Amino acid sequence: MNNKKVLVTGGLGFIGSHTVVALQQEGFEVVIIDNLSNSSIDVLGGITQISGKTPEFENIDLREKSAVKDFFEKYPDIENVIHFAASKAVGESVINPLLYYENNLSTLVYLLHELNNREKANFIFSSSCTVYGQADELPITENAPVKQAESPYGNTKQIGEEIIRDTCKVNQALKAISLRYFNPIGAHHSGEIGELPIGTPQNLVPFITQTAIGKRSELSVYGDDYPTRDGTAIRDYIHVMDLAEAHVSALKRLLSENENQNYEVFNLGTGNGNTVLEVIKSFEKVSEKNLAYKIVGRREGDITAAYADTNKANDHLNWKAKRSLDEALDSAWKWQKLVEKKEEDQD
Ligand code: WQD
Repeated sequence: MNNKKVLVTGGLGFIGSHTVVALQQEGFEVVIIDNLSNSSIDVLGGITQISGKTPEFENIDLREKSAVKDFFEKYPDIENVIHFAASKAVGESVINPLLYYENNLSTLVYLLHELNNREKANFIFSSSCTVYGQADELPITENAPVKQAESPYGNTKQIGEEIIRDTCKVNQALKAISLRYFNPIGAHHSGEIGELPIGTPQNLVPFITQTAIGKRSELSVYGDDYPTRDGTAIRDYIHVMDLAEAHVSALKRLLSENENQNYEVFNLGTGNGNTVLEVIKSFEKVSEKNLAYKIVGRREGDITAAYADTNKANDHLNWKAKRSLDEALDSAWKWQKLVEKKEEDQD
């Protein structure tokens, strides 16, 4: 087995591609599986520009059980898997739940089936703070109760964690970590990779940068009647490179062999909460642009506030987010300007 080789599913996606770069920079050899349903093959070039190394790439749809089996026969030495590939649009999941249960859960089961046949395996799962819903206490620790999911998307993260936990219970050769992301934003400082939302962005920061670049006329702020310091909702915005580096730390923990637990959960956030208006203010500062926005009604399913208690990750992953909100928004803005320039050059 080659413990420096890592399969990254969804490795051409937003968080996946940044994690591939972080893995390569730590000397890991990466194989990417991606079906390009929510990413572009151009991202492979961006990764190579940054690291100088082109990961092996397999265009596979993990919903095809036979294709997953064939992959692991082709790569018998892979024992490390970081699993990002999944659908992640909360609103879409409400409209099309079966797409989410198939794409986010069947694929997970097929991957775990193949790992069960390995003499040992390390598995990292992309989960989300959405499993907490509106937590009763802030900051949110990993012991906070998992609440009734607000969406099929959130439900697939909860069920996914349980599938992994139950599998680890019966397969001592499998060690796994679920990472509950708070709000990933920003882009690698090089501007070579970043977030590529397809269609109208659902998330705050890409909508902000597309408004600032002129692609959107104005940002709608979903509600200013929350019980917060300025009435807008609070989230824990974490730079995507901090998040990427946390995956490398988690993999090193699994490889370290000195843990008696074979399943753990970690929150990945900065530990700080910012309101929507504070994010807008920070963006206006770093971009030196006035952002056009209007206050509208709350968005269905949104919670008032969420930010992480990061002590467990700080202590056990030997990891702490180190990039500021300003730095994350500055990198997002740099990326948006480069995307715009590429689109203009192509026209
Ligand atoms: C952040 C804040 C909005 C857009 C979701 C998922 C989570 C993860 C990240 C996948 C909220 C406000 C947003 C806009 C706004 N997804 N907002 N105008 O909802 O916290 O988390 O995305 O991995 O699992 O739950 O992120 O960026 O959509 O919203 O005012 O146009 O910005 O109301 O308060 P969210 P978000």
